[in-house]
Amino acid sequence: MPEMRVLMAYCDQPSQIDIATYEANGGYQAIRKAIPAIPPETLIDMVKQSGLRGRGGAGFVTGVKWGFVPKDPQLDKYLVCNCDESEPGTFKDRFLIEHDPHQLIEGIILSAYAISAKKAFIYCRGEFFEGIALLRKAVFQAKAKGYLGSNILGSSFSLEIVVHPGAGAYIAGEETAQLNSLEGYRATPRLKPPFPAVSGLYNKPTVVNNVETLCNVVHIVNRGVEWFQSIGTPKNTGTKIFQISGHVQKPGCYEMPLGVSLRTVLEIAGGMLPGRTFKACYPGGSSCALLTEKDLDIAMDFETLAARKTMLGTASLIVMDDSADMVKVAHRLMQFYQNESCGKCTPCREGTRWVVQMLARIEAGHGTFRDLGVIEDICHQMETLSFCALAVGAAPPVVSAMREFKNEFDAYIKRNPHADQSPKMPIAYPYMKVSP
Ligand SMILES: Cc1cc2nc3c(=O)[nH]c(=O)nc-3n(C[C@H](O)[C@H](O)[C@H](O)COP(=O)(O)O)c2cc1C
Ligand code: SF4
Repeated sequence: MPEMRVLMAYCDQPSQIDIATYEANGGYQAIRKAIPAIPPETLIDMVKQSGLRGRGGAGFVTGVKWGFVPKDPQLDKYLVCNCDESEPGTFKDRFLIEHDPHQLIEGIILSAYAISAKKAFIYCRGEFFEGIALLRKAVFQAKAKGYLGSNILGSSFSLEIVVHPGAGAYIAGEETAQLNSLEGYRATPRLKPPFPAVSGLYNKPTVVNNVETLCNVVHIVNRGVEWFQSIGTPKNTGTKIFQISGHVQKPGCYEMPLGVSLRTVLEIAGGMLPGRTFKACYPGGSSCALLTEKDLDIAMDFETLAARKTMLGTASLIVMDDSADMVKVAHRLMQFYQNESCGKCTPCREGTRWVVQMLARIEAGHGTFRDLGVIEDICHQMETLSFCALAVGAAPPVVSAMREFKNEFDAYIKRNPHADQSPKMPIAYPYMKVSP
């Protein structure tokens, strides 16, 4: 199956970053069509009907989220575009802002109009120097053309967009931590409820949406709800930018309909490196369980991967061939989560550290079989007792590696002359099963 480029249609054209080319390629037609002709309520209904689901990881239905924002016209409302993009393996948002920044600006204008927000923020990962500069230029150009600022296209709708660089923390991508960071506080998550749609930035109703989600709104307005519904599967509509990294021949961003098979996604990335075979991949960034060879024909959509006890997440495939050492992979990933834990809650702050210590011990040839049960136990606590989803996502990559490639962990442990040589040794700790 070939690529289906919608969001990436003009990404190969270098001048697409400039407003003149963007307009020549049909840009800013969606806002002309919608503002003020389509009432905000109708726009929310259109996005709801399209079935568009958030592309930031959780896959929540975008129009439904927008519908939670109170309609009171006296209330200030905000739109926050989440461009923090720190999930390992994820690089689509950077691609979109560096190749087609006006598409995002147009998506933000439409979405802010739908929820009646007069101010929008783009919270951008601080290291995206080029993307930040391009977004700022795009905002400037859009304002000069009357697409931003007061009384957009002569309507009563006004909008200001602020491009805000973050300061380099994975947790700042979690929506409530991001709101704290935007307010000038340390990026730690807030208790939910209340959800941001009701009480978000400065305690005002706020919608937080991912870059790719917002870009999709432009095409729903331009080409219609039925067109969008016709792509993908009934519950997973539209295209998805799959980001493929690791042991493939042509790593990169590939846009395809949701629901394509894992095999197809690997093929489009050129397949495995010469002489190598597919071993496993994390399908949705690193915060999910592994897929293995038996899953090659699985459909890459939210439902199917959830049923397989993993996640589509950001559709960022980290692909590994038969040369990958799964103990090292698990160890390295848990180091990432340990470094990025904000420290607010104990299961995550201590759990990630303990698991790193035990995996380091196993890798150094000093592990015991009991360690495996203790790691599963701690991971279960991280998954079930943590304050936010960072630790919920830290457990499956390690636990699934231990389960799918137990022989590799056993082999490391057997290097320890003092380890019990029987993998069936009963575990002294209360053994709690991580979700089956
Ligand atoms: C630790 C952590 C990091 C996250 N990082 C991002 C991110 O970089 N970008 C993003 O869009 N969503 C990220 N999310 C998800 C956001 O909390 C939120 O669900 C998303 O921005 C909503 O947008 P959507 O509905 O358009 O998907 C992260 C969540 C967690 C728990
Ligand atoms: S789970 Fe981790 S990142 Fe989330 S609040 Fe707790 S310590 Fe912070």
